[in-house]
Amino acid sequence: MPHMEVDLDTRIPNNVNLKGDKRLLRALEHWQPQFIEWWKEMGPSDFNADSVYLRTAVGVGKGGWAHFDHVKMPDYRWGIFLAEPTDDRKIHFGDHVGDQAWDQVPGEMRNRLRRLIVTQGDTEPASVEQQRLLGHTAPSLYDMRSLFQVNAEEGRHLWAMVYLLHVFFGSDGRDEAEELLARRSGNADKPRILEAFNQPVETWLDFFCFTTFTDRDGKYQLASLAESGFSPLAYSTQFMLTEEAYHMQTGENGIGRIVHRTGELMREGTDPRKVGAIPFDIIQRYINFWASMSMDLFGGEDSTNAAEAFAMGLKGRYRESDGIYKDPKALGQNYKLSVPKNGGMTEQDVPLRRAMNSLLLDAYVADSTRIVNRWNRDLERLDMDVRISLPDKKFHRGQGVYAGYWFNPAGERITEEEWNAHRDDWLPTEADSAYVKTCMISVREPGKFANWISPPHQGTNEQPNDFDYVRFH
Ligand SMILES: [Fe+2]
Ligand SMILES: [Fe+2]
Repeated sequence: MPHMEVDLDTRIPNNVNLKGDKRLLRALEHWQPQFIEWWKEMGPSDFNADSVYLRTAVGVGKGGWAHFDHVKMPDYRWGIFLAEPTDDRKIHFGDHVGDQAWDQVPGEMRNRLRRLIVTQGDTEPASVEQQRLLGHTAPSLYDMRSLFQVNAEEGRHLWAMVYLLHVFFGSDGRDEAEELLARRSGNADKPRILEAFNQPVETWLDFFCFTTFTDRDGKYQLASLAESGFSPLAYSTQFMLTEEAYHMQTGENGIGRIVHRTGELMREGTDPRKVGAIPFDIIQRYINFWASMSMDLFGGEDSTNAAEAFAMGLKGRYRESDGIYKDPKALGQNYKLSVPKNGGMTEQDVPLRRAMNSLLLDAYVADSTRIVNRWNRDLERLDMDVRISLPDKKFHRGQGVYAGYWFNPAGERITEEEWNAHRDDWLPTEADSAYVKTCMISVREPGKFANWISPPHQGTNEQPNDFDYVRFH
């Protein structure tokens, strides 16, 4: 592949030489107004005329790929950026290990690859739809900016997937690209593909849990696709990951700031409920909900589908290309999977290839545990005894081998009666949701924050906290 020039002067900024492919350019210019229509209808409600301090991707090179400026969101320049290609890329896992990587879609992989791209692509606009009303209750201008940054980048991720559909999947791909704008999160008739992306994100507590746990699933899915033998997919997802890091940081910092605020109040003897802040037990229930919903996104723990995607070289293990696995073919090994049996649990040997989703989920759990530990270190510094915990991967699952059984957040198998007796201790209740909503007041004075969340340690792009991140028209 040739070195990729960045073209910022066209309607669709890109480093894929759109100018040189008139047909593709026309197809994307046809899709673009539909995208803007969708954004205005389903994107952030009411803030399209305001100027938001956003970073825009202007290239993919190390350092300086992002440019910050106050822009109106519909004028955000959604572009198509692929990571710099590596010379002579080889497939590094599965049955085709050592073969030349593909620049085109191998015929027999077409349907599977299209489904992978569409499933990933569908999550991007879905999350924008889920978050569309949050601007009205932003706890600060700083947070409002973060929300819109995440939304704009999810829009760009949709562009990244639509580009692949247009280039490599002909008229099927163009139809899929239109469908991506036609489905609606939570809609009974045309819902988004994955369940977590049909759940309402009604409060900022949901939002920060979503960006911590659901965007983190995105990171692991993208990372496994970034290993793909299909190079255009690998290069697209590699660059998406750089933006995804910011979304997860938004979540981690957001929950961290809520935990900090509640800890601070309790240390001085104030009941958080008396001052519009969020008690720890509610925070924990929201974490339990979103973490478990997000774990469902990994798919079945024992999956022939995952085995095939690995064998074909389409979806690798996390950090496969770092050479951390002994056998790039993942043959002749088993994964020990704990599964329900009779009233208890038993260990089952699953051929490693069929356990690819489990491996990815384990990496996710380890990562999420690190985040939770960071929140707890802050509680320790505040001299608080309470701790946040990540629910076990068996808790509250709707997909995979644990679905249909009952587990407590520690992962112990329990009876349905026990579940019913404790459900409200473990998952958000209607009363929780009603209370959290009363905390969600809009704060628009630069440098001021709602009482349920601490200010961040650092402003965006080294700006001070009282910077006017959003300028209202
Ligand atoms: Fe995304
Ligand atoms: Fe994201």
